[in-house]
Amino acid sequence: MISVAIMGHGTVGSGVAEILTTHKHKLFSAVGEELYIKHILDLRDFPDSPLADRFTKNFEDIINDIEVRVVVEVMGGTNPAYDFVKRCLMAGKSVVTSNKELVAKHGRELLEVAKENNANFLFEASVGGGIPIIRPLSQCLVANEVDEIAGILNGTTNFIFGKMINDNMDFADALKLAQDLGYAERNPEADIEGHDACRKICILASLAFGKHVYPESVYTEGITKVSLEDVKFASKLGYVIKLIGDVKRDKEGKLDIKVCPMLLSKDCILAGINDVFNGIMVKGDCTGDVVFYGKGAGKLPTASAVVADVVDCAKHLKARKRIFWTEGNSKDIASYKDSVTAMYIKVAGNGEEALKAFPNSKVMTEDNKTVLITKEYRFGEIEEKLNSLQVLSAIRIGNL
Ligand code: HSE
Repeated sequence: MISVAIMGHGTVGSGVAEILTTHKHKLFSAVGEELYIKHILDLRDFPDSPLADRFTKNFEDIINDIEVRVVVEVMGGTNPAYDFVKRCLMAGKSVVTSNKELVAKHGRELLEVAKENNANFLFEASVGGGIPIIRPLSQCLVANEVDEIAGILNGTTNFIFGKMINDNMDFADALKLAQDLGYAERNPEADIEGHDACRKICILASLAFGKHVYPESVYTEGITKVSLEDVKFASKLGYVIKLIGDVKRDKEGKLDIKVCPMLLSKDCILAGINDVFNGIMVKGDCTGDVVFYGKGAGKLPTASAVVADVVDCAKHLKARKRIFWTEGNSKDIASYKDSVTAMYIKVAGNGEEALKAFPNSKVMTEDNKTVLITKEYRFGEIEEKLNSLQVLSAIRIGNL
């Protein structure tokens, strides 16, 4: 029997407890031993839970229990998660987390602490919810040099876009529904301002390119400035708008990494990803494009990935999984101004001035508004041109 502790009994934590209970026999076959939930840490009371006798409000019950070999951290945030996870690893307990903020901020250090203490630190659920992506990237695709990773990494914003477009639902109602369904972050600003997607592309970039990419060094723009009118104009021009996390190397070898709304051609494989689904495209130099698709948020999809990591830890109690990256430096990140892109630009009137600034653009005028689809420019140049115009919207066009 292998004793497991779960820190946090929210959406994901309760899903982990549920899967460990309902899939007990299946998991026994996978591990060769029973996975036993010994403690659940939460400040709230759950008197009606069938596991009511396992709840504790005291972290010391977990850290001091030598029988606990695997700890699941699904509290979210970094305080106290960072401290608790570090202490568990230092005590030689393996840790599994779905906490992208924790991994994006402290992943390098925690992987190092895990290594020093012969423990594992796994985080499959931190990116893409139920989609396998961390393990494929670190194992199945390891023979490749990664040329680019681009993805729809936030289920909530994708769900909101879908509800706005297909059901004419307004932004606030769509967000409320995403929260009710357990997709959104505790503070939904993290979803709609792009921070959640930023953390996820940082984790993927760190893994794929071998150096820690910190969220504060990544250009991040959310979806709040995208209007329903933009979505409709884009559609008439053959595009859909998605929040995309994207990372690739530029010509100087720096990482061109960003999170922002992008117009994608309807032919692009990521354009067809709707609802709470995520899609992640990895361009490997040997494989070409490989695409991962599935539910990127929600209780059981995310818990499924957590439990898979618990199984992996349980099967490797004496061996270490080699997941690693070294310290990163903001000098490795290209300025967002050096990234090259075509743009969707919406202005009032017939767009004469805009067309002078962006000659040879494709133009559409409707209801006294003009939309330009420009040629490609360096973003720094685009910014300068936009400063001299009265622009209603400006959105990058993805070349994926
Ligand atoms: N709020 C996140 C999302 C949850 O909507 O994708 C999964 O990380």
